Amino acid sequence: MMKTEVVLDRIGELKDKRKAIILAHNYQIGEVQDVADFVGDSLQLSQMAAQIREAEIIVFCGVHFMAETAAILCPNKTVLIPEIKAGCPMADMITASELIEWKKRYPGRKAVCYVNTTAEVKAECDICCTSSNALKIVDSVDGEEVLFAPDKNLAAYVARFTEKKIIPWDGCCYVHHRIMLRDLNEKKRLYPEAEVWAHPECRPEVIDMSDKVLSTGKMILEARKTEKKEIIVATEAGIIYRMKKENPDKNFYPAKDIALCANMRKIDLRKVLKSLEEMIYKIEVPRIISQRARGAIQRMIEI
Ligand code: 13P
Ligand code: SF4
Repeated sequence: MMKTEVVLDRIGELKDKRKAIILAHNYQIGEVQDVADFVGDSLQLSQMAAQIREAEIIVFCGVHFMAETAAILCPNKTVLIPEIKAGCPMADMITASELIEWKKRYPGRKAVCYVNTTAEVKAECDICCTSSNALKIVDSVDGEEVLFAPDKNLAAYVARFTEKKIIPWDGCCYVHHRIMLRDLNEKKRLYPEAEVWAHPECRPEVIDMSDKVLSTGKMILEARKTEKKEIIVATEAGIIYRMKKENPDKNFYPAKDIALCANMRKIDLRKVLKSLEEMIYKIEVPRIISQRARGAIQRMIEI
């Protein structure tokens, strides 16, 4: 097997040659985060993709809907995902035809879709949101009642703060939904001084037990700011790599040791290299879908 240093050199050469930039989500494995030009949450990655001027190729290390969002926002760039099977099961919990039928049952209601959806679904919704702006987006749309898909846990979290009635789709993220109250209680028993931070995709009872509810990007910022030395983190455990790297004097514990997103972990350094060598796997969104989906994403970015 090629040595890591050789792989890194080769990635560096190909990035220059192809004018490529590497973006990675906060859940990516350490070696992928380390080789990336920018690491962030879903919103930050979309904003970054929308701003990139100098690169011609974006190697997107995350799951399929994230790379698709980059392709929608950058129609003149080539977007590659190093592993085509890195999908998001939650994004597949609602299809475009299901959304169309659902909207028909609630005429006049605006549909807010989490970015964790396919391009086809985004094309049918009124506006997108991410975990860090969901409340702001729901409050921004017209009407007393709002359809919210696909994450019922994020919907329930937003419902705590908005005056609007939220009608949720019955989807969820298996990684967050499997973090149980008993997991948190067990970690609290082990680390009684620790603060608890949860991602809003967690179950309501986990949210109730948390001191802070944050997107992955906000967890990274809070990890730098907090005076606390011990934090229990209720989200995908891969985020702890960056938290520890940036804050070696603090301890971060996963709420559940096996809270790992199998799809996020499908990408590694060698696949990043292969992606740049062979220009695989190209994310292409049909123009008609891309244009409509871009409207929903751009409306979100403007807010
Ligand atoms: P963030 O938007 O907080 O990065 O979350 C994305 C995601 O897939 C969470 O499971
Ligand atoms: Fe999808 Fe959950 Fe994985 Fe995020 S952690 S990509 S929501 S399955």
